[in-house]
Amino acid sequence: MSAITLKNVIKKYGAVQVVHGVDLDIDEGEFVVLLGPSGCGKTTTLRMVAGLEDVSGGELSIGGQVVNNVAPKDRGVAMVFQNYALYPHMTVKKNMEFALRPLKLDKAEVDKRINDTAAILGLGELLERRPVQLSGGQRQRVAMGRAMVRTPDVFLFDEPLSNLDAKLRTQVRWEIGKLHQRLGTTVLYVTHDQVEAMTLADKVVIMRDGYVEQVGTPEEVYTAPQSTFVATFIGSPSMNMIEAKVVAERLEANGFSMPLPDRFQGKVTEGQAVTIGVRPIEIKRVAASSTGAMQANVEVTEYLGNEALLDLRVGPHELVAEVPADQRVEPGKVIHIALNEGAIHLFDTVSGRTLSE
Ligand SMILES: Nc1ncnc2c1ncn2[C@@H]1O[C@H](COP(=O)(O)OP(=O)(O)O)[C@@H](O)[C@H]1O
Ligand SMILES: [Mg+2]
Repeated sequence: MSAITLKNVIKKYGAVQVVHGVDLDIDEGEFVVLLGPSGCGKTTTLRMVAGLEDVSGGELSIGGQVVNNVAPKDRGVAMVFQNYALYPHMTVKKNMEFALRPLKLDKAEVDKRINDTAAILGLGELLERRPVQLSGGQRQRVAMGRAMVRTPDVFLFDEPLSNLDAKLRTQVRWEIGKLHQRLGTTVLYVTHDQVEAMTLADKVVIMRDGYVEQVGTPEEVYTAPQSTFVATFIGSPSMNMIEAKVVAERLEANGFSMPLPDRFQGKVTEGQAVTIGVRPIEIKRVAASSTGAMQANVEVTEYLGNEALLDLRVGPHELVAEVPADQRVEPGKVIHIALNEGAIHLFDTVSGRTLSE
Protein backbone atom coordinates (compact mmCIF):
# COMPACT_ATOMS: atom_id res chain seq x y z
CA MET A 1 0.00 0.00 0.00
CA SER A 2 1.29 3.43 -0.92
CA ALA A 3 1.82 5.92 1.85
CA ILE A 4 0.54 8.75 -0.34
CA THR A 5 -1.22 8.65 -3.69
CA LEU A 6 -2.18 11.58 -5.88
CA LYS A 7 -4.56 10.82 -8.75
CA ASN A 8 -5.07 13.62 -11.24
CA VAL A 9 -4.82 16.20 -8.44
CA ILE A 10 -5.69 19.71 -9.57
CA LYS A 11 -5.52 23.11 -7.90
CA LYS A 12 -7.34 26.19 -9.08
CA TYR A 13 -7.34 29.63 -7.52
CA GLY A 14 -10.54 31.11 -8.94
CA ALA A 15 -10.24 30.69 -12.69
CA VAL A 16 -6.46 30.20 -12.60
CA GLN A 17 -5.23 26.61 -12.57
CA VAL A 18 -1.81 26.25 -10.97
CA VAL A 19 -1.56 22.46 -10.56
CA HIS A 20 -2.61 20.44 -13.61
CA GLY A 21 -3.49 16.86 -12.81
CA VAL A 22 -0.58 15.49 -10.80
CA ASP A 23 -0.29 11.68 -10.56
CA LEU A 24 2.14 10.37 -7.98
CA ASP A 25 2.68 7.27 -5.84
CA ILE A 26 4.82 7.55 -2.75
CA ASP A 27 5.76 4.30 -1.04
CA GLU A 28 5.93 3.77 2.67
CA GLY A 29 9.29 5.01 3.98
CA GLU A 30 10.24 6.62 0.70
CA PHE A 31 11.99 10.01 0.53
CA VAL A 32 10.39 11.86 -2.37
CA VAL A 33 11.50 15.32 -3.48
CA LEU A 34 9.37 17.74 -5.50
CA LEU A 35 11.89 19.74 -7.52
CA GLY A 36 11.34 22.64 -9.87
CA PRO A 37 11.80 26.35 -10.40
CA SER A 38 10.00 28.94 -8.31
CA GLY A 39 6.28 29.15 -9.04
CA CYS A 40 5.89 25.69 -10.56
CA GLY A 41 3.41 24.51 -7.90
CA LYS A 42 5.58 22.63 -5.39
CA THR A 43 4.34 24.38 -2.26
CA THR A 44 0.74 24.25 -3.44
CA THR A 45 1.02 20.49 -3.99
CA LEU A 46 2.61 19.97 -0.57
CA ARG A 47 -0.04 22.10 1.14
CA MET A 48 -2.78 20.04 -0.52
CA VAL A 49 -1.20 16.89 0.93
CA ALA A 50 -1.05 18.60 4.33
CA GLY A 51 -4.68 19.66 4.04
CA LEU A 52 -3.81 23.37 4.26
CA GLU A 53 -5.25 23.87 0.77
CA ASP A 54 -8.35 22.24 -0.69
CA VAL A 55 -7.95 19.94 -3.65
CA SER A 56 -9.89 21.40 -6.61
CA GLY A 57 -10.08 18.08 -8.44
CA GLY A 58 -8.77 14.53 -8.36
CA GLU A 59 -8.12 12.23 -5.45
CA LEU A 60 -5.59 12.38 -2.64
CA SER A 61 -5.03 9.32 -0.41
CA ILE A 62 -2.83 8.83 2.62
CA GLY A 63 -2.34 5.32 3.97
CA GLY A 64 -4.95 3.99 1.57
CA GLN A 65 -7.65 6.37 2.77
CA VAL A 66 -9.01 9.19 0.60
CA VAL A 67 -8.35 12.37 2.55
CA ASN A 68 -9.72 15.08 0.25
CA ASN A 69 -12.11 16.10 3.01
CA VAL A 70 -10.11 15.08 6.08
CA ALA A 71 -8.88 17.85 8.40
CA PRO A 72 -5.10 18.45 8.50
CA LYS A 73 -4.77 17.27 12.09
CA ASP A 74 -6.36 13.92 11.21
CA ARG A 75 -4.06 13.12 8.28
CA GLY A 76 -1.08 11.82 10.24
CA VAL A 77 1.25 14.32 8.59
CA ALA A 78 3.55 16.94 10.08
CA MET A 79 4.96 19.86 8.15
CA VAL A 80 8.26 21.72 8.54
CA PHE A 81 8.09 25.15 6.97
CA GLN A 82 10.69 27.31 5.25
CA ASN A 83 10.58 30.00 7.94
CA TYR A 84 10.31 27.49 10.85
CA ALA A 85 7.19 29.28 12.23
CA LEU A 86 8.30 28.84 15.83
CA TYR A 87 6.45 30.74 18.55
CA PRO A 88 8.96 33.43 19.60
CA HIS A 89 7.65 33.87 23.15
CA MET A 90 7.78 30.14 23.94
CA THR A 91 10.80 28.07 24.91
CA VAL A 92 11.91 25.18 22.74
CA LYS A 93 10.16 22.79 25.10
CA LYS A 94 6.93 24.80 25.06
CA ASN A 95 7.04 24.98 21.26
CA MET A 96 7.13 21.19 21.16
CA GLU A 97 4.44 20.82 23.83
CA PHE A 98 2.21 23.12 21.86
CA ALA A 99 2.46 20.88 18.82
CA LEU A 100 1.24 17.97 20.96
CA ARG A 101 -1.75 19.77 22.46
CA PRO A 102 -4.31 18.59 19.87
CA LEU A 103 -3.34 14.98 20.65
CA LYS A 104 -4.45 15.31 24.30
CA LEU A 105 -1.73 13.01 25.66
CA ASP A 106 -0.99 12.63 29.37
CA LYS A 107 1.94 14.53 30.82
CA ALA A 108 4.24 11.51 31.10
CA GLU A 109 3.80 10.72 27.42
CA VAL A 110 4.36 14.36 26.44
CA ASP A 111 7.59 14.48 28.46
CA LYS A 112 8.80 11.19 27.02
CA ARG A 113 8.21 12.27 23.45
CA ILE A 114 9.93 15.60 23.97
CA ASN A 115 12.92 14.00 25.68
CA ASP A 116 13.26 11.27 23.03
CA THR A 117 13.06 13.80 20.21
CA ALA A 118 15.49 16.17 21.93
CA ALA A 119 17.93 13.29 22.31
CA ILE A 120 17.69 12.33 18.63
CA LEU A 121 18.11 15.91 17.44
CA GLY A 122 20.65 17.00 20.05
CA LEU A 123 18.32 19.59 21.53
CA GLY A 124 18.67 18.52 25.18
CA GLU A 125 20.66 21.56 26.25
CA LEU A 126 18.40 23.97 24.42
CA LEU A 127 14.98 23.06 25.80
CA GLU A 128 14.65 26.14 28.01
CA ARG A 129 15.84 28.63 25.38
CA ARG A 130 13.60 30.82 23.29
CA PRO A 131 13.98 30.98 19.47
CA VAL A 132 15.93 34.29 19.53
CA GLN A 133 18.57 32.55 21.62
CA LEU A 134 19.18 29.92 18.93
CA SER A 135 21.25 29.86 15.75
CA GLY A 136 19.56 29.29 12.40
CA GLY A 137 20.57 25.64 12.35
CA GLN A 138 19.28 25.11 15.88
CA ARG A 139 15.96 26.75 15.01
CA GLN A 140 15.64 24.46 12.04
CA ARG A 141 16.27 21.48 14.31
CA VAL A 142 13.57 22.69 16.72
CA ALA A 143 11.16 23.02 13.81
CA MET A 144 11.91 19.41 12.90
CA GLY A 145 11.56 18.37 16.55
CA ARG A 146 8.18 19.99 16.76
CA ALA A 147 7.08 17.93 13.76
CA MET A 148 8.68 14.75 15.11
CA VAL A 149 7.07 14.73 18.57
CA ARG A 150 3.77 14.04 16.91
CA THR A 151 5.26 10.79 15.51
CA PRO A 152 3.61 11.39 12.15
CA ASP A 153 3.36 8.78 9.39
CA VAL A 154 4.56 11.38 6.91
CA PHE A 155 6.91 14.37 7.13
CA LEU A 156 6.34 17.26 4.77
CA PHE A 157 9.21 19.70 4.27
CA ASP A 158 8.93 22.97 2.36
CA GLU A 159 12.38 24.31 1.45
CA PRO A 160 13.61 23.72 5.01
CA LEU A 161 17.19 24.80 4.28
CA SER A 162 16.58 27.98 2.34
CA ASN A 163 17.14 30.31 5.30
CA LEU A 164 20.50 28.79 6.23
CA ASP A 165 23.92 29.85 5.00
CA ALA A 166 25.74 27.54 2.58
CA LYS A 167 27.83 25.67 5.14
CA LEU A 168 24.95 25.05 7.51
CA ARG A 169 22.74 24.01 4.63
CA THR A 170 25.10 21.17 3.81
CA GLN A 171 25.21 20.09 7.44
CA VAL A 172 21.46 20.19 8.06
CA ARG A 173 20.88 18.45 4.73
CA TRP A 174 23.10 15.65 5.94
CA GLU A 175 21.22 15.56 9.26
CA ILE A 176 17.86 15.28 7.50
CA GLY A 177 19.20 12.37 5.43
CA LYS A 178 20.48 10.65 8.57
CA LEU A 179 17.21 11.24 10.37
CA HIS A 180 15.30 9.64 7.54
CA GLN A 181 17.60 6.61 7.59
CA ARG A 182 17.05 6.30 11.31
CA LEU A 183 13.28 6.86 11.52
CA GLY A 184 12.27 5.46 8.13
CA THR A 185 9.28 7.79 8.02
CA THR A 186 7.82 8.67 4.62
CA VAL A 187 9.03 12.12 3.50
CA LEU A 188 7.72 14.51 0.90
CA TYR A 189 10.24 17.33 0.50
CA VAL A 190 10.01 20.46 -1.63
CA THR A 191 13.02 22.32 -3.00
CA HIS A 192 14.23 24.26 -6.03
CA ASP A 193 17.80 23.11 -5.31
CA GLN A 194 18.90 20.18 -7.44
CA VAL A 195 21.74 19.29 -5.10
CA GLU A 196 19.30 18.80 -2.22
CA ALA A 197 17.07 16.74 -4.46
CA MET A 198 19.86 14.57 -5.85
CA THR A 199 21.49 13.91 -2.48
CA LEU A 200 18.37 13.23 -0.42
CA ALA A 201 15.79 11.68 -2.72
CA ASP A 202 14.90 8.07 -3.37
CA LYS A 203 12.65 9.52 -6.06
CA VAL A 204 12.69 12.96 -7.66
CA VAL A 205 9.53 14.53 -9.09
CA ILE A 206 10.45 17.34 -11.47
CA MET A 207 7.70 19.92 -11.87
CA ARG A 208 7.26 22.69 -14.38
CA ASP A 209 4.37 25.15 -14.67
CA GLY A 210 2.07 22.95 -12.59
CA TYR A 211 2.82 19.75 -14.51
CA VAL A 212 5.00 16.79 -13.59
CA GLU A 213 7.79 16.61 -16.20
CA GLN A 214 9.48 13.43 -15.01
CA VAL A 215 9.58 11.09 -12.03
CA GLY A 216 12.65 8.96 -11.41
CA THR A 217 15.58 8.13 -9.20
CA PRO A 218 18.31 10.79 -9.10
CA GLU A 219 20.32 8.61 -11.48
CA GLU A 220 17.42 8.26 -13.93
CA VAL A 221 16.69 11.96 -14.14
CA TYR A 222 20.41 12.69 -14.64
CA THR A 223 21.24 9.97 -17.14
CA ALA A 224 17.93 9.68 -18.97
CA PRO A 225 16.19 13.07 -19.02
CA GLN A 226 12.87 12.81 -20.85
CA SER A 227 12.79 16.43 -21.99
CA THR A 228 15.06 19.37 -22.70
CA PHE A 229 13.65 20.99 -19.57
CA VAL A 230 14.82 18.17 -17.30
CA ALA A 231 18.08 17.84 -19.23
CA THR A 232 19.03 21.45 -18.60
CA PHE A 233 17.57 21.66 -15.09
CA ILE A 234 19.54 18.72 -13.68
CA GLY A 235 23.32 18.86 -13.71
CA SER A 236 25.75 21.69 -13.10
CA PRO A 237 26.96 23.28 -15.27
CA SER A 238 23.91 22.70 -17.45
CA MET A 239 23.82 20.32 -20.38
CA ASN A 240 24.81 22.04 -23.64
CA MET A 241 21.99 22.22 -26.18
CA ILE A 242 22.67 22.49 -29.90
CA GLU A 243 19.93 22.92 -32.48
CA ALA A 244 20.48 20.72 -35.49
CA LYS A 245 18.76 19.00 -38.41
CA VAL A 246 18.86 15.39 -39.57
CA VAL A 247 20.37 15.40 -43.08
CA ALA A 248 21.46 12.20 -44.84
CA GLU A 249 22.22 10.27 -41.64
CA ARG A 250 24.12 13.18 -40.18
CA LEU A 251 23.34 15.80 -37.57
CA GLU A 252 23.96 19.15 -39.23
CA ALA A 253 24.20 22.16 -36.99
CA ASN A 254 25.16 25.58 -38.16
CA GLY A 255 28.96 25.42 -37.96
CA PHE A 256 29.47 21.71 -37.47
CA SER A 257 28.30 18.29 -38.46
CA MET A 258 28.51 14.79 -37.01
CA PRO A 259 27.31 11.34 -38.04
CA LEU A 260 23.97 10.28 -36.56
CA PRO A 261 24.92 7.70 -33.90
CA ASP A 262 23.55 4.24 -34.73
CA ARG A 263 21.30 4.09 -31.70
CA PHE A 264 19.14 6.89 -33.15
CA GLN A 265 18.58 5.07 -36.44
CA GLY A 266 14.86 4.70 -37.02
CA LYS A 267 14.00 7.21 -34.29
CA VAL A 268 14.40 10.32 -36.40
CA THR A 269 13.26 11.31 -39.87
CA GLU A 270 15.09 13.11 -42.65
CA GLY A 271 14.86 16.87 -42.15
CA GLN A 272 13.67 16.62 -38.53
CA ALA A 273 14.65 19.51 -36.26
CA VAL A 274 16.48 17.97 -33.32
CA THR A 275 18.33 19.28 -30.31
CA ILE A 276 21.63 17.65 -29.42
CA GLY A 277 22.27 17.58 -25.68
CA VAL A 278 25.78 17.05 -24.38
CA ARG A 279 27.02 17.45 -20.82
CA PRO A 280 30.10 19.64 -20.35
CA ILE A 281 32.09 16.62 -19.20
CA GLU A 282 31.36 14.81 -22.49
CA ILE A 283 33.17 17.42 -24.57
CA LYS A 284 36.79 16.38 -24.94
CA ARG A 285 39.86 18.19 -26.19
CA VAL A 286 41.29 16.36 -29.20
CA ALA A 287 44.05 16.81 -31.75
CA ALA A 288 43.18 18.97 -34.75
CA SER A 289 43.74 16.00 -37.05
CA SER A 290 41.37 13.56 -35.28
CA THR A 291 38.07 12.64 -36.93
CA GLY A 292 35.15 14.80 -35.89
CA ALA A 293 37.41 17.48 -34.43
CA MET A 294 35.75 20.88 -34.26
CA GLN A 295 37.55 24.15 -33.92
CA ALA A 296 36.56 26.12 -30.82
CA ASN A 297 37.51 29.55 -29.54
CA VAL A 298 38.12 29.71 -25.82
CA GLU A 299 36.29 32.73 -24.43
CA VAL A 300 36.49 32.24 -20.65
CA THR A 301 38.37 29.77 -18.46
CA GLU A 302 37.28 28.99 -14.91
CA TYR A 303 39.76 27.06 -12.79
CA LEU A 304 38.01 24.91 -10.16
CA GLY A 305 40.90 22.94 -8.70
CA ASN A 306 40.47 19.44 -10.07
CA GLU A 307 38.79 20.55 -13.25
CA ALA A 308 38.31 23.69 -15.30
CA LEU A 309 35.33 25.03 -17.20
CA LEU A 310 35.96 26.36 -20.68
CA ASP A 311 33.39 28.66 -22.27
CA LEU A 312 33.75 27.87 -25.94
CA ARG A 313 32.44 29.29 -29.17
CA VAL A 314 32.01 26.86 -32.03
CA GLY A 315 30.65 28.77 -35.01
CA PRO A 316 27.49 30.38 -33.64
CA HIS A 317 27.22 27.95 -30.71
CA GLU A 318 28.26 28.67 -27.14
CA LEU A 319 29.31 25.52 -25.33
CA VAL A 320 30.73 24.80 -21.90
CA ALA A 321 33.31 22.05 -21.54
CA GLU A 322 34.55 20.60 -18.29
CA VAL A 323 38.13 19.36 -18.68
CA PRO A 324 40.84 18.19 -16.29
CA ALA A 325 42.49 21.30 -14.83
CA ASP A 326 45.81 20.54 -16.51
CA GLN A 327 44.09 20.73 -19.93
CA ARG A 328 42.86 24.27 -19.44
CA VAL A 329 43.93 27.00 -21.84
CA GLU A 330 44.06 30.76 -21.82
CA PRO A 331 41.06 32.69 -23.10
CA GLY A 332 41.59 33.79 -26.69
CA LYS A 333 43.23 30.52 -27.74
CA VAL A 334 41.83 28.15 -30.35
CA ILE A 335 41.47 24.46 -29.47
CA HIS A 336 39.88 21.39 -31.01
CA ILE A 337 37.09 19.45 -29.38
CA ALA A 338 34.87 16.46 -30.04
CA LEU A 339 31.57 15.44 -28.52
CA ASN A 340 31.50 11.99 -26.95
CA GLU A 341 29.03 10.38 -29.38
CA GLY A 342 28.13 7.63 -26.96
CA ALA A 343 26.92 10.18 -24.43
CA ILE A 344 24.91 12.61 -26.51
CA HIS A 345 21.18 13.00 -25.97
CA LEU A 346 18.77 13.80 -28.76
CA PHE A 347 15.48 15.65 -28.38
CA ASP A 348 12.77 16.62 -30.81
CA THR A 349 13.17 20.39 -31.00
CA VAL A 350 9.46 21.11 -31.42
CA SER A 351 8.08 18.96 -28.59
CA GLY A 352 11.21 19.06 -26.42
CA ARG A 353 10.78 15.30 -25.78
CA THR A 354 13.61 12.80 -25.82
CA LEU A 355 14.44 10.71 -28.90
CA SER A 356 16.86 8.59 -26.90
CA GLU A 357 14.42 5.77 -26.14
N1 LIG B 1 -3.24 31.79 -2.64
C1 LIG B 1 -2.93 31.90 -3.94
N2 LIG B 1 -3.75 32.57 -4.79
C2 LIG B 1 -3.46 32.67 -6.11
N3 LIG B 1 -2.37 32.13 -6.69
C3 LIG B 1 -1.52 31.46 -5.90
C4 LIG B 1 -1.75 31.30 -4.49
N4 LIG B 1 -0.72 30.58 -3.98
C5 LIG B 1 0.10 30.29 -5.02
N5 LIG B 1 -0.38 30.82 -6.16
C6 LIG B 1 0.24 30.69 -7.50
O1 LIG B 1 0.38 29.33 -7.80
C7 LIG B 1 1.59 29.09 -8.50
C8 LIG B 1 2.40 28.04 -7.78
O2 LIG B 1 2.84 28.57 -6.55
P1 LIG B 1 3.70 27.71 -5.52
O3 LIG B 1 3.03 26.41 -5.30
O4 LIG B 1 3.92 28.57 -4.32
O5 LIG B 1 5.05 27.51 -6.30
P2 LIG B 1 6.48 26.98 -5.78
O6 LIG B 1 6.34 26.50 -4.39
O7 LIG B 1 6.84 25.91 -6.75
O8 LIG B 1 7.41 28.15 -5.90
C9 LIG B 1 2.29 30.42 -8.62
O9 LIG B 1 2.02 30.96 -9.88
C10 LIG B 1 1.63 31.24 -7.54
O10 LIG B 1 1.65 32.61 -7.87
MG1 LIG C 1 7.34 27.19 -2.66
